[in-house]
Amino acid sequence: KEYDYLFKLIVVGDSGVGKSSLLSRFNDNEFSESFISTIGVDYKTKNIMVGDEHARLQLWDTAGQERFRTIVGCYYRGAHGVVVVFDVTSSESFANVRNWLYEIENHCDRPSRCCILVGNKRDHPRRQVLRSDAERLAAELHIPYVETSAKTGRNVDRVFVTLSQLIVET
Ligand code: GTP
Ligand code: MG
Repeated sequence: KEYDYLFKLIVVGDSGVGKSSLLSRFNDNEFSESFISTIGVDYKTKNIMVGDEHARLQLWDTAGQERFRTIVGCYYRGAHGVVVVFDVTSSESFANVRNWLYEIENHCDRPSRCCILVGNKRDHPRRQVLRSDAERLAAELHIPYVETSAKTGRNVDRVFVTLSQLIVET
């Protein structure tokens, strides 16, 4: 066997927050300024090291658009980990974090699933969400918070390594 762990990870959050961009950066080290909204769900795999063990990550990139909510809900089943993304330049996307967690609560059957909160677009000058507010929410939810930029690549790997670490320890 080429890996010690196989983890199913779901990436959720409002449309346009940068879910697909985070995965393109993580998988292929690529970034595009153009916005091609995800239809339904995209799937990729990537192998990483967690400590000195090999983990294969099954990455499910879901559509943020409301009209796909029902389809997307079916993919939460069996997820070991959830990446909840908002955009630090959009207070609305931050306000919706609780709704995404509620969706997960309703659809994800695995009781021990782990979550991580991600504030993306930290490179952007027009910030609307204070880091302290995001940190407070994450602390209240007992989950880690990471600020990323899919554009520069800052902290992107850290999201997936931190979440995988958490799953291993849980
Ligand atoms: P849906 O598939 O509709 O749910 O959206 P999404 O969350 O997958 O968003 P996507 O990754 O397609 O990115 C939306 C737009 O934001 C694109 O124009 C990206 O170029 C831009 N974007 C994504 N991440 C960043 C970032 O870290 N910084 C900046 N400045 N722009 C970003
Ligand atoms: Mg997308």
